[in-house]
Amino acid sequence: MSRSTSISGQPCIATSQTRLTISQVMGPADVNLMGTVHGGVILRLIDTLAGVVSARFSHGSAVTAFVDEVAFVAAAHVGDVVHASAQVNWAGSTSMEVGVRVLADRWDETVAPVHVVGAYLVMVAVDDLGRPRPVPRVQPGTPDDARRFDAAVRRRERRLARRR
Ligand SMILES: CC(C)(COP(=O)(O)OP(=O)(O)OC[C@H]1O[C@@H](n2cnc3c(N)ncnc32)[C@H](O)[C@@H]1OP(=O)(O)O)[C@@H](O)C(=O)NCCC(=O)NCCS
Repeated sequence: MSRSTSISGQPCIATSQTRLTISQVMGPADVNLMGTVHGGVILRLIDTLAGVVSARFSHGSAVTAFVDEVAFVAAAHVGDVVHASAQVNWAGSTSMEVGVRVLADRWDETVAPVHVVGAYLVMVAVDDLGRPRPVPRVQPGTPDDARRFDAAVRRRERRLARRR
């Protein structure tokens, strides 16, 4: 992940550099009594991915502070390959919003990928004692990244209002 320095002297990382996708094949141990994949299995994958993305971005440990707007829009099944993609949408002083999108396709690629779930997670970079520590700035590089950045700012304002 290459870094530049912003006018404020804080390191700055392009949104595109923060992206990561991980994939996992869904097996019999992942499904519920209806034969569809447990929401918890997908949530664990989302949380794991957000942890890696935020740790790479902030060069150290990061914890999940808040998860919101998790929307399950389709079910995944045994034999599906689930692909979770994430990026840092916005970064503040010590926290980051990581956006995650999950798609599923069949192991033999007989079906086009289906959107399964999306989520936004607030991750906080922490030091060895678990105290919040500073994070780099994130620089949107495309109109889509800029739109996600602005939307993340609005979601943060709503979260902080709820927290207060
Ligand atoms: C997350 C944690 C480190 C925050 O500690 P804290 O003392 O409340 O820290 P602060 O109040 O200074 O907040 C730190 C940052 O998180 C943000 N934040 C904390 N809670 C938030 C929430 N509910 N919504 C949005 N942002 C939040 C703050 O706005 C601040 O961001 P900024 O520095 O970019 O402005 C602490 O609550 C914690 O350790 N929680 C447990 C985490 C955990 O175990 N997760 C599960 C396993 S990874």
